[in-house]
Amino acid sequence: MTDKISTPRAQWGSRIGFILAASGSAIGLGNIWRFPYTTGEHGGAAFVLMYIICVVLIGIPVMIAELSLGRHTQRNPVGAIKAITPKGGWKLLGYLGVLAGTVILSYYSVVAGWTIGYIVKTITHSTSDFNTFIADPKSEFGYFIIFLGLTMLVVLGGVKGGIERWSKILMPALFIILLGLIVFSLTLPGAEGGIAFYLNPDFSKITGSTILAALGQAFFSLSLGMGAMITYGSYIKKETNIISSGTIVAFTDTLIAVMAGLVIFPALFAFGMQPSQGPGLVFNVLPQIFSQMPGGMIVGLFFFILLAIAALTSSISLLEVGVAWAVDELKTSRTLATILITAVAFIFGIPSAMSQGYSEFFSTIHFIGKTGFLDIMDFVFGSFALTFGGLMLSLFIGWKWGAKNAVAEIQSSRIGNYSMLLKIWSFLIRFVCPVIIFLVLLNLFGIF
Ligand code: PFF
Repeated sequence: MTDKISTPRAQWGSRIGFILAASGSAIGLGNIWRFPYTTGEHGGAAFVLMYIICVVLIGIPVMIAELSLGRHTQRNPVGAIKAITPKGGWKLLGYLGVLAGTVILSYYSVVAGWTIGYIVKTITHSTSDFNTFIADPKSEFGYFIIFLGLTMLVVLGGVKGGIERWSKILMPALFIILLGLIVFSLTLPGAEGGIAFYLNPDFSKITGSTILAALGQAFFSLSLGMGAMITYGSYIKKETNIISSGTIVAFTDTLIAVMAGLVIFPALFAFGMQPSQGPGLVFNVLPQIFSQMPGGMIVGLFFFILLAIAALTSSISLLEVGVAWAVDELKTSRTLATILITAVAFIFGIPSAMSQGYSEFFSTIHFIGKTGFLDIMDFVFGSFALTFGGLMLSLFIGWKWGAKNAVAEIQSSRIGNYSMLLKIWSFLIRFVCPVIIFLVLLNLFGIF
């Protein structure tokens, strides 16, 4: 992809370049931080199973839908919707995406800042625990600002050289480090409890809130429901096979999340920790693993560096949605758009950064069953808004634009005989996705 989004529109260098960039967006803190702690809060294996079902039945179809709308219209989410239906309220859905992207970026950068803090903690051999680390406003704000600033610089400089090139080294490295950690974690004495918790489902644990959490996690982890994949899709070449590329991205993302769980839960049980401790979970467990592992300091250092880079390839896509919107629709320069949206994310991020013990008010504020500003934002924007966005996008693409038109777009790359798969996709996007998401959301409001 070239630096400036101008006409003719920039494109990914190659199919593999696109798959790497989209996987870069999908793989991030969602897999390694959010998936394990959400699994821990929702009782383990039964949640994992629900999660996989959500990815297959809903995530993959919505991913394909977003990519095809993006490639067809060559626009950001607001522009893409306007290109199909110039009048009416549908474009609000695009604005919701821009808003969700900006708010998620705000707290995402706070958590990514913790990762940078842990790089420094590892180098300096600091043994302070997570709660002490996180309540220190100096480090908390410093790392948050560093991470958000890095995101801004990459988006300012353009995505091509850096991110496409890095991703090629980063993904395999992350994969190999995770494999090594799994082996170590599984051999710890007492690991069996964690394996049972993670892989042996107890179906009595499934409630309405488990299903919503699984669905929300699928949208979050696959970068769906807010138009990131519409935006990335707008840079795909006509020859690229959307069905296979989208499925590869979803599969890789899910594999990494499942692997992260295989690292965390056996170790967690071996150390006698609580699975339901919330957002601090991996930051409590991982340093313990590294401290017991031969050569653990080096492994830990690499791991946190990779995690920070994985977070960066996701945060740039969060920022890119708003920037593409401002550049396409408001005709601002890319530089101005990037600076303004980063500033908004920074302001939103301040209460999140203060919500881990530093500010009593933001740490204890309670809303819809969540405590603390960061958790509330993560629920409202990271789960609810993305899920609601996914519902509206499947209605928009399946019915308003029309599954037939989307299929024509997908087939324009002459991908061979995919007619059966495309029939299944049309059915899923028009009926299965909207109905299931709608029921899950109704349930959230206690309708059943
Ligand atoms: N998928 C990213 C992760 O799992 O860390 C987070 C994310 C990026 C969510 C982009 C939504 C999005 F549009």
